[in-house]
Amino acid sequence: MGLDDFKENQEVKTIDASKKLRIGIIGCGWIADSHMNSYLKQPDVEIVAGADLIPGKAAKFMQKYGLEGVKTDYASHKEMLDDKSLKLDAVSICTYNCQHAIPAIYALEKGVNVLLEKPFTVTLDEAVEVMRAEKKSGKILSIGFQPRMDANMKMIKKIVESGALGKIYYIQTGGGRRRGIPTPFGTTFIEKETAGIGALGDIGCYSLDMVLNAIGYPKPLTVSGYKSAFFGTDPNYSHYVKIGHPEYAAKFGVDDFAAAFIRLEGDIILDFRIAWAMNLDTPGDTIIMGTKGSLRIPSTECWNGTVGGPMVLYHEVCGEQTQTEIPVIKMKEGLFDLKIRTFLDAIKEGGKAPVPSSQILYNQAIIDGIAKSSECGHEVEIKIPEI
Ligand SMILES: NC(=O)c1ccc[n+]([C@@H]2O[C@H](COP(=O)([O-])OP(=O)(O)OC[C@H]3O[C@@H](n4cnc5c(N)ncnc54)[C@H](O)[C@@H]3O)[C@@H](O)[C@H]2O)c1
Repeated sequence: MGLDDFKENQEVKTIDASKKLRIGIIGCGWIADSHMNSYLKQPDVEIVAGADLIPGKAAKFMQKYGLEGVKTDYASHKEMLDDKSLKLDAVSICTYNCQHAIPAIYALEKGVNVLLEKPFTVTLDEAVEVMRAEKKSGKILSIGFQPRMDANMKMIKKIVESGALGKIYYIQTGGGRRRGIPTPFGTTFIEKETAGIGALGDIGCYSLDMVLNAIGYPKPLTVSGYKSAFFGTDPNYSHYVKIGHPEYAAKFGVDDFAAAFIRLEGDIILDFRIAWAMNLDTPGDTIIMGTKGSLRIPSTECWNGTVGGPMVLYHEVCGEQTQTEIPVIKMKEGLFDLKIRTFLDAIKEGGKAPVPSSQILYNQAIIDGIAKSSECGHEVEIKIPEI
């Protein structure tokens, strides 16, 4: 069997549609469309409600999909979750970063399963509070990292777990875009009050997940971090000029570049950098260096957590140095569809969250550590409170 025929996660599963899961959408903006498109492909789902802070937005959103009779007259997530008549099984939380923790905690307190968009939260303390609510509720909380569903990503983990790399001691990860500050429908991605964190939370979390998931999410110990915002705060930033919004520069309150040197449990060094904008094509490929072999994972132009081309394993065979190319595996099913399906299956089967908070907590701890270290100007110890 060739690698192109790799079937994991691409098998056709029979879905029992006799009982429909009742789903609500919190936050009806850009990413909610991807959730909706995937939910509508599932035979065992009924979309029953939508809520948005902007009056009329949730109703318009449902109309776009021809969903008549879906309740949307809620002023926020709270009113929707208080509506007992909905009998919600789960919600997708598609709000901007600063509104991840509050609705997630409220939904879990109401006994509703949660698919929470990435990044987990803005701060580590928020993530801890969400996990405390999760623990109390016994419900499923999955974090929206769809690149996890990619067979190429799974291959990285398989290579690590096979022992082909030996003891891993150094990792470089990250990526970036030459001009890619996201302002598709306004400024919710770049304002401090809505986004809280910039490139770090938008795409940095993917880079961290790519390698941390592969090596089993060791605990982060210390971080020396840096962040800057030279492009986002410049009214002459070429993209602002192109779209006719130089005033976005004054609204920019997050990072557009971050870098860090992180020590992980197990004596592993993690060298990280991420950019929404830079005068460079890429800040480098992801590399995982081990005592027996090393893996190079090519970067992508528009960094979104995927593998940018064939990976290369550098190793020795019979004492000779050689390298093996790992072809890119073509996915038959969309990553977003798999993200939604695995979440639904976990609810129905009483299984574990496909992307568990217990792992992403460490991802968030690193992001939080970078922000804190950058502010104080020196290395900080990562302290994770008891959940
Ligand atoms: N997984 C992915 O590929 C992916 C891609 C893009 C964005 N995202 C994530 O999705 C999230 C949302 O991004 P977006 O681009 O859709 O943002 P957006 O600003 O387009 O939409 C967010 C919506 O949430 C609403 N909202 C905020 N707080 C609310 C609350 N408490 N109750 C009800 N509605 C509320 C806002 O009014 C807004 O309409 C972000 O955290 C982002 O990181 C993920």
